[in-house]
Amino acid sequence: MKILTAKEELRKVVDGLKSENKTIGLVPTMGALHRGHLSLVERAVAQNNITIVSVFVNPTQFNNPDDLRSYPRTLDADVALLEKAGCKYVFAPKVEDIYTSDELGSPFQFDFEGLDKVMEGRFRPNHFNGVVQIVGKLFELASPDRAYFGEKDFQQLAIIRLMTKRYHPSVEIVACPIVREDSGLAMSSRNMLLSDNQRKVASHIYAVLAEGRQFVPNTPVAELKECTIAAIEQKPELKVEYFEIVDGNTLQNIEKWDDTSYVVGCITVYCGKVRLIDNICYKNIG
Ligand code: PAF
Repeated sequence: MKILTAKEELRKVVDGLKSENKTIGLVPTMGALHRGHLSLVERAVAQNNITIVSVFVNPTQFNNPDDLRSYPRTLDADVALLEKAGCKYVFAPKVEDIYTSDELGSPFQFDFEGLDKVMEGRFRPNHFNGVVQIVGKLFELASPDRAYFGEKDFQQLAIIRLMTKRYHPSVEIVACPIVREDSGLAMSSRNMLLSDNQRKVASHIYAVLAEGRQFVPNTPVAELKECTIAAIEQKPELKVEYFEIVDGNTLQNIEKWDDTSYVVGCITVYCGKVRLIDNICYKNIG
């Protein structure tokens, strides 16, 4: 496995691979890798001749400087895990290699067709501008045949699909299911920031989401929403930022279970200072 830090090095490798007709799977990450990421890498290794994993804590998608500062950075451990998983190239550039100071100074412009106005977009202004900006740059540099993203970041996935359809239609987006700890807690790099006790408490989030499933479709949507928030907040350490029950394609709130054939509940919860996201599919008969 090779570690590349310069864009030019990556381009050279990619040009070489393309000239040999090799297929490329790209797994974009911000590092601090866990089993969730490794499931994406394993899928990429199985489906492509060569897998490239990018490890880059992307500053333009952080709206909170403290969050950017405290985001875990564990490159050496990440590299060891990637080597074992069969990744061939790690792309780990520096911020100044990716962005000009102008790009860092103002949000990337993109027409989200409304997908950014809800949920994460409401609470993290310009977050998705930064996500589409970096993913677009990585697609240009790595020219992947396929790119792999986790379903945990449900809204991100919908937005990346939109961006890809518009600007990189030849890239196939492969969505991979959420990987959970034994306790049910969705795997996340941010889990590293939880204390042992917070980690236990945080598993309550998925326990409540999973239990809620049995109330569909006989309980009204608004009532399930209210009860879910109240049940999670029974733990004093947990504070729900939002819980929305949405159409899985448009991400707009639904009012009744039969408004659409694809219904997902998306949640963000603070456990102390750590922001955790998760989602649950209530119906997908599309
Ligand atoms: O999901 C993430 O880790 C990031 O948002 C991504 C897609 C790697 C872009 O920085």
